[in-house]
Amino acid sequence: MLVEVGKQITFRLMFAVGTAVIGSLQFGYNTGVINAPQKIIEGFINETWAERYQEPIPETSLTTIWSIAVAIFSVGGIVGSFSVGLFVNRFGRRNSMLMANVLAFIAAALMGFSQMASSWEMLILGRFVVGLYSGLSTGFVPMYVGEVAPTALRGALGTLHQLGIVIGILMAQVFGMDSIMGNASLWPLLLGFTFIPAVVQCAALPFCPESPRFLLLNKNEENKAKSVLKKLRGTSDVSADMQEMKGEHRQMMREKKVTIMELFRSPLYRQPIFIAIVLQLSQQLSGINAVFYYSTDIFQKAGVAQPVYATIGAGVVNTAFTVVSLFVVERAGRRSLHMIGLLGMAFSAVLMTIALALLDQLKWMSYVSIAAIFSFVAFFEIGPGPIPWFIVAELFSQGPRPSAFAVAGFSNWTANFIVGMGFQYVQTACGPYVFVIFTVLLLLFFVFTYFKVPETRGRTFDQISSGFRHNADGEKHTPEELAHSLGDSQL
Ligand code: GLC
Repeated sequence: MLVEVGKQITFRLMFAVGTAVIGSLQFGYNTGVINAPQKIIEGFINETWAERYQEPIPETSLTTIWSIAVAIFSVGGIVGSFSVGLFVNRFGRRNSMLMANVLAFIAAALMGFSQMASSWEMLILGRFVVGLYSGLSTGFVPMYVGEVAPTALRGALGTLHQLGIVIGILMAQVFGMDSIMGNASLWPLLLGFTFIPAVVQCAALPFCPESPRFLLLNKNEENKAKSVLKKLRGTSDVSADMQEMKGEHRQMMREKKVTIMELFRSPLYRQPIFIAIVLQLSQQLSGINAVFYYSTDIFQKAGVAQPVYATIGAGVVNTAFTVVSLFVVERAGRRSLHMIGLLGMAFSAVLMTIALALLDQLKWMSYVSIAAIFSFVAFFEIGPGPIPWFIVAELFSQGPRPSAFAVAGFSNWTANFIVGMGFQYVQTACGPYVFVIFTVLLLLFFVFTYFKVPETRGRTFDQISSGFRHNADGEKHTPEELAHSLGDSQL
């Protein structure tokens, strides 16, 4: 098995996946970049206000402008992720990724020149546009990677999307230190840096193949699909892959184009879309971005002497454990890793609560709080970080996949926005007990995963979706749907 898997990792495959996940890196970078230089950029907003209105900025206006600049990124993400379906079938997976870079260039220019133009409006607009790009990427990248990967490597390669994200976050944390670019003169470069990965991706994408599934299933170009597969797999015998895709094709011919509404109406898709949504919610409502947006503040409140270094430490742990997940996901399976991750996070959240509650009596509790956050992040990356992103490609066949990505992405980004906006208010209201809310949610998601989420490891797309069709057969059907599923069983 190991030898076989080794053979399937070809240079072309890794080049294609590596190029695609530059989009994930951009998402992570822009998630993390705004955390460290907050005070510096607030200084710029203050100066600009004073220049324009000849008076210092009122505290509330500054908070509002800053919160908008931070949160509008997820609003862009919501819009972008929801638009994925408009692109992928029309232009193809690869060309969609290429086109999206226009947004990254516009965003880099808006943010990079905002100081020169004395305009925080440009900064806000730039954050929105890079949010659009990131939202599109959270659909395009896992879809492309899932479609080019051989079945036995779908989870490991799918985890590379998350690895791209976490490396992006870490880069932003490090570049954002005041000795590097997080200072009054260089922060426009820090934000404009997005330009560079965009150039690299634009240069490399033309050398990456289009998804063979898109070529065969959407375009009916069998010869092209075959030749792409041969290159990706590094072998001239791709009959097994072709056979599998053709099975999916027959299924797809029976389905009309699956719209978002149909995902919810048809009993065939209701169960997988429900699972996909809840898994996205489990990722975001775990509270992970309370850490990645506010860790410096959390550490400060927990009495940590060097909060910025503790934040970078969290970024390092985050990256290290994504690598661990990469190596175990094809052995341990998605379902068990997701459950271990959720349970471990719940345990860490309890530890965090204890540390915060006892802080006044026991000063050393600040170290416990660091350990608790590190383990929270580590367990997140074992399962709830990477798995929800790539499992959407696995839960759906080619027909409904683009709509499913739109719904899943929309759910993820909306929950991201809610945590980003709401956390500080809830923290003020609940004090040290804020992580209790996440503990309860984590346990609920654990129970859901135990009862509802199937294992997808090692199964082809077609096998996974026929599993759901089978379940749906047990439900009540309209005559039309019954005819449909009868047809399926004769395949
Ligand atoms: C996931 C989440 C993202 C989060 C990151 C942290 O990719 O989608 O919101 O910031 O993990 O590693």
